Amino acid sequence: MENLRETLKIVVVGHVDHGKSTLIGRLLYDTKSLPEGAIEKVKRISKEKGKPFEYAYLLDAFEEEQKQGITIDTTQLQFFTDRRDYIIIDAPGHKEFLKNMISGAANAEAAILMVDAQEGIQEQSKRHGYILSLLGIRQVYVIVNKMDLIEYSEEKFYQIRREFDDFLSNLQVRPLKYIPVSAFLGENITNLSEKMPWYQDLPVLEALDAFQKTQGEQDKPLRFPIQDVYKFDDRRIIAGRIEAGTLHVGDEILINPGNKKTVVKSIEHWAPKDQTDTVYAGMSVGITVADEFFNKRGQFISHGDTPPLSTNRFKANIFWMGKENLVVGKKYKLKLTTQEVECQVQAIEKVIDASTLETVLGAAAVATNDVAEVVIETRQLVAFDLFADNQTTGRFVLVDGYDVSGGGIISNAEAVIDDEDARNLDGLGAGESSQTQKLVSRAEREQRDNQRGRVLWLTGGELATRLDFAAKLEKELFELRKRVYYLDTSTLAQGLNVDVVSGDADELVRRKAEIAKLFVDNGVITLIAADSDKEDSTNGRLIVGQEDFVEVSLDLVADEGFNQKLAQVINVVIAV
Ligand code: GTP
Ligand code: MG
Repeated sequence: MENLRETLKIVVVGHVDHGKSTLIGRLLYDTKSLPEGAIEKVKRISKEKGKPFEYAYLLDAFEEEQKQGITIDTTQLQFFTDRRDYIIIDAPGHKEFLKNMISGAANAEAAILMVDAQEGIQEQSKRHGYILSLLGIRQVYVIVNKMDLIEYSEEKFYQIRREFDDFLSNLQVRPLKYIPVSAFLGENITNLSEKMPWYQDLPVLEALDAFQKTQGEQDKPLRFPIQDVYKFDDRRIIAGRIEAGTLHVGDEILINPGNKKTVVKSIEHWAPKDQTDTVYAGMSVGITVADEFFNKRGQFISHGDTPPLSTNRFKANIFWMGKENLVVGKKYKLKLTTQEVECQVQAIEKVIDASTLETVLGAAAVATNDVAEVVIETRQLVAFDLFADNQTTGRFVLVDGYDVSGGGIISNAEAVIDDEDARNLDGLGAGESSQTQKLVSRAEREQRDNQRGRVLWLTGGELATRLDFAAKLEKELFELRKRVYYLDTSTLAQGLNVDVVSGDADELVRRKAEIAKLFVDNGVITLIAADSDKEDSTNGRLIVGQEDFVEVSLDLVADEGFNQKLAQVINVVIAV
């Protein structure tokens, strides 16, 4: 049987030159995780260059082998102990580390904070401490390194420990251990050091094994952000990665935003051996569901009894690394799992200098490298969890123009919007919620006007033919005193700010269909001409609904067929 070993991700942070790379090199060396001959090679090269040997150099040698294909700019190294496998993240600098941590590119469950015993606590030691707290990394060891430079002094060790404890406790970071070491000389790394008999706790390697794995992701509520929907013969396969929880065939699920309920019909597989009825957190899967709504990237699948939060306003801790200051009221793009929505910062509640922890209230802007507590408002509803509950679905990045300029974690879904806002914001939910309050129904409108609201979606033929047909049809029906409206999409695209040329075609179809649906609800005969020859009306049909959707194909209309088709369509429409 395959023995599934556990992997723990640890990040090593600390001020410049305090010995992060040396510690990691040492761990690789001591656990025999280095490629054969690496140490000899580094020794030889160091000697040739007349430089002293450095464990840190081992990382460079190692990195080249491991790094291929990895695009993130932190180094991730692997080693293992008897207990489990480790991925250790060496943060080359403050900024890269934050960027990767906040964006989730390097997601650590535990951290080692390195402090140079001789230099003591430096600005970045504090800053990193703060960031660990911001990121909610609760399992932290402080390693006090270079003990050899202070004669392995117990007194100095405890002094550093007291100072750091004072500082970190303000941040709710309570290191589980302080370990005095000499990374370079290997003291207290694999075995307890004879140089520091006063230290009686675990050496580093054993201490690492004492870190706890966080609660299994698959035991958490189901979180399945939709990455894409593929049409495959007549099925629509919803694809994505299960970020948390477990999903079974037959499960009743909820799709947000929109609050649609349906049932999982199948879990797709390529090879018969992969067939399964259950999938778990961490797996990338494709499923089909019983009721096909127009599902799309950015929606979020959960179980009905454990839905995510869904709102357009929340509190977050952000780390800003933009070239320009973050300001209130400016439009940014917020990306959370596969969701992308426009947002703005509604209020900057606190700006915190990450090194001094000095707090500025009422700041007008957040500058590069500042941390801030802000209130964010999004244009559409977003589905998420608090970061404390789920690290993946509680984390987002902010994009300013084209640059990822900040990252944040959601600390509080403070103000859940009221229903009216929700309707304005969330087109998908519009129909249901508004109708209940209205005193005129669609049926009444249709009865009075003696017509049936529906969408005539013109496809096939040349674009010019479709446009011409739509314009003429509108005119003819108008003359017949029908309430008719030709939704002219070239103006619509501008008004809706959709760039058809650069590939927003799907989005344009979605918007056209959503608007057409409102017209239909108003009892109007609504005409839409497909914008391209390839335009697929499937999504339009799904949004509008089968019973209100008529596709009119103009494929076979030769010049003389045009008027014939026109008459035919008019007859169908006025027959009610
Ligand atoms: P950056 O990546 O530049 O932030 O530095 P770092 O934290 O990775 O430090 P690195 O491991 O490169 O070590 C910096 C210097 O400290 C090197 O010259 C190491 O040899 C030295 N050093 C590391 N650990 C020890 C130690 O335990 N004792 C002594 N005396 N020197 C050490
Ligand atoms: Mg380094």
